[in-house]
Amino acid sequence: MNTRQVTPPPNVPSGRIRHYDIYERLRGDGDFQGWFAGLQDSGYPDFFWTPANGGHWVVNSGEILNDVLTDPDLFSSRVAIVPVERQMETPPFPISLDPPEHTRYRAVLSGAFSPRVVTPLGEQAGELTHDLIDGFYERGGCEFMGEVSYILPISIFMRMVGIPDAHREKLLVLVDELIRPAEVDESEAAARGLTDYARETVRQRRASPGDDLLSRLCQAEVDGELLSEDQLTGMTVLLLLGGLDTVAAVLGFTMNYLARHPEKRRQLVDHPDTIPKAVEELLRRFPVSTLGRIVTRDAEFHGVQLKKDDMVITPTMSHGMDKREFDSPTEVDFSRKVVFHGAFGNGPHRCLGSMLARVELRTFLQAWLSRIPEFRVKAGAELTVDTGMVVALHDLPLEWDVARQ
Ligand code: HEM
Repeated sequence: MNTRQVTPPPNVPSGRIRHYDIYERLRGDGDFQGWFAGLQDSGYPDFFWTPANGGHWVVNSGEILNDVLTDPDLFSSRVAIVPVERQMETPPFPISLDPPEHTRYRAVLSGAFSPRVVTPLGEQAGELTHDLIDGFYERGGCEFMGEVSYILPISIFMRMVGIPDAHREKLLVLVDELIRPAEVDESEAAARGLTDYARETVRQRRASPGDDLLSRLCQAEVDGELLSEDQLTGMTVLLLLGGLDTVAAVLGFTMNYLARHPEKRRQLVDHPDTIPKAVEELLRRFPVSTLGRIVTRDAEFHGVQLKKDDMVITPTMSHGMDKREFDSPTEVDFSRKVVFHGAFGNGPHRCLGSMLARVELRTFLQAWLSRIPEFRVKAGAELTVDTGMVVALHDLPLEWDVARQ
């Protein structure tokens, strides 16, 4: 795809320029995060600049991830994607706002993510996993991304906001084209399609409210006023994108890892009570999001001169894969003490759905490992990692020996 290469502007020192194209696909064993960890070893600076995708800065250290994400005065979420022309007409809301405005709208949403609401919702992943396995177990294999990974979080999210199951395929295609487009044109069309779908859903809920989260948001007030149709549409898009793709992507990387590491998998099979802690280590090892920010003013930052309107991207791998934050970061160690891992971001926009995601991942693993404790990646399979603001395996063919009664 066209990544719009630009000439470095005068504020970029030549020693900070490296190749990094966020949309370049990776082929091999599917370990995108391991590849990212290798950047440190190949001498990529902690904060570098790439001419790809309109030219932008890239964070490559846990410390700098925190510095960027906790300073919304300097690093605004107003534009959060590269190249900047990919910004949606109605951007996800309120993630595109900065404090203090953002704080008021986030408060409206946060009630929907209390443990009382998300625990029973996320736990439905167990029942769904059993249903899906019933459908393909006897085949002795499945294409995990298409047959499990995307279906689970989407089904749960759709129940949360009252979207009928019949819309699942349509939504899946739009989200995938938006986040991992083959061409910029495809992503623009998908953005329009997704926004139209969200707007139509908002209109329906306003006309005939139900008992779902969207209907409640339609009735919520900020500073004594109902949210506008644009704001509600942007919120719906944010909930769709936040809830659908990220969980699916983490599930894919996790299963690719467990399929290739029987000794780690058996630890979880033999001690299912350790799965909740293991989920935290898997989130650290397999972060999937990259967060974009636009610089609000000229400023000195970690030894470079930033200019107003420079774009900065913060891959969340830059924390979990940093040797200064974690010993042997590419190793999965279920006994590792993980206090903070960056996979859910940091600062005012820290993921609202993190608890829901954790419950979904835990419940899925408990259900899957109880039914299919031994599985492997299909022999000879070469995997493709679709890259972009969220990275995910394109497909993951898994196999197992069918137990005969
Ligand atoms: C493993 C799964 C997930 C990952 C890795 C993830 C990651 C993230 C990250 C890194 C951010 C910060 C964005 C930024 O700073 O620009 C974020 C924000 C957000 N996430 Fe998640 N997320 C996950 C699951 C979910 C789920 C299941 C939902 C809800 C259905 C959700 C809803 C949100 C929302 C609403 C925000 C915006 C918060 C704000 O702007 O204040 N996420 N997520």
